[in-house]
Amino acid sequence: MISIALDGPAGAGKSTLAKAAAKKLGFIYVDTGALYRAVGLKFSRLGYNTELNCEIEPILENTAVDIRFIGEEQHVFLDGEDVNALIRTPEISMMASAVSARPPVRAFLLELQRKLARENNVIMDGRDIGTVVLPDATLKLFVTAAPETRADRRYKELLEKGADVKYDDILSDIKTRDYNDTHREIAPLKVAEGGIVFDTDELDFNAALAALMEIINKEVKK
Ligand code: DC
Repeated sequence: MISIALDGPAGAGKSTLAKAAAKKLGFIYVDTGALYRAVGLKFSRLGYNTELNCEIEPILENTAVDIRFIGEEQHVFLDGEDVNALIRTPEISMMASAVSARPPVRAFLLELQRKLARENNVIMDGRDIGTVVLPDATLKLFVTAAPETRADRRYKELLEKGADVKYDDILSDIKTRDYNDTHREIAPLKVAEGGIVFDTDELDFNAALAALMEIINKEVKK
């Protein structure tokens, strides 16, 4: 099986790029952030905030997270419920970042991610795919861009969806999440050994996709 690990900070364009590349290659696109978001939703529904003042493990013992593909689209199921439509809010973004810093949560989601890569050719998008989940991935990429560029992209994306959001709030959320994701003790966001840094700052979507496909064709087929 071929696995392509795509790590990087929030809003770097990983998901749109990975989805498009997966389609071209006939691979499955796995958005691992959605798994952390589903766990974040669970804790939010139980009434906890990002401080997570609770015992994590007993809650995880009563939690089921799974991925199913409906057509080409990944759907995340939390305790049997399709929660795709509920996990993209700013509140759940912050909850996902909070739960993702907890070792039991990372351990809880690890095997599901590895199993998907054992059984399918995948492009897996996340923060620790090349460093922890799939250290032997065929290709490891670290996709990045400046915080302001990422905030601008996320802002436009949310506006298109009709969300009532402010650019400054998004930028500040991105910076907070970057800090959390790169400074946590477990599986911090960083370039994997043997990873290639792919900076999308100056590239629009089409240029970034073309550059990504070039790297994939060169590195995966050699
Ligand atoms: O990619 P995203 O914004 O949907 O991710 C939501 C949060 O989950 C993000 O703050 C970091 C965390 N995450 C992680 O720690 N490891 C992953 N493999 C994917 C996401």
